[in-house]
Amino acid sequence: MNNRRAAFMISAADITGCPQARLPEYAFFGRSNVGKSSLINMITGVKNLARTSSTPGKTQLLNYYMVDEDTWYLVDLPGYGYAKVSKKSRKNWEKIIREYLLQRKSLVYTFILVDTRHEPQKSDLELINWMGEEGLPFCLVFTKADKISRNAVKRNVDEYKKVLAENWEELPPVFITSSHSGEGKSEINTFIATSNSEYSVLTEQKQ
Ligand code: GTP
Ligand code: MG
Repeated sequence: MNNRRAAFMISAADITGCPQARLPEYAFFGRSNVGKSSLINMITGVKNLARTSSTPGKTQLLNYYMVDEDTWYLVDLPGYGYAKVSKKSRKNWEKIIREYLLQRKSLVYTFILVDTRHEPQKSDLELINWMGEEGLPFCLVFTKADKISRNAVKRNVDEYKKVLAENWEELPPVFITSSHSGEGKSEINTFIATSNSEYSVLTEQKQ
């Protein structure tokens, strides 16, 4: 898939600062440093679109990117699990993100990112289970797959699915990615393109 046209649009402090909900949007969420901003750069093919850093907690606020000229939005969310954030500030952020995930009408899917190298983390499972209980559509993205062997990737992904299957009959769509090698780029872009066409059919029907 070719690279896209994408540009930074706006940073919102909470849902009231988000752009008018007229385009389908996709949010990227996960632990701090898991590779959200890198993945956004990888799937758009626009280098340095989202700011990445080896220091956790780089992304703050809800950062909107307009993709394919007025077609859809990508939203880079701040990471969670960053130890240096105070308890009060964490609670506030949780509220802002929860409100956004629950109330944003044009949010089509949230991509929840987890590091392929690690076994399921408590905070990730809590988020996944909460999304499932609320009936919020999400995909699971395994990041940094280049950092371990193919066998280890397969083993860890299978193990993750097994843990989810203890709670859920149906598993979310799963993507294995590497922002370094570009693995998963065309799969995610195809998924978004399909979801965008379904979204426009749905909104036309509503009008
Ligand atoms: P916060 O904004 O702090 O929550 O982090 P983030 O989730 O946006 O992570 P970011 O994209 O900034 O990446 C964190 C670090 O991981 C950076 O040093 C990246 O270069 C590295 N990284 C991200 N994705 C990959 C990947 O697929 N492979 C490898 N090897 N490194 C990666
Ligand atoms: Mg980031």
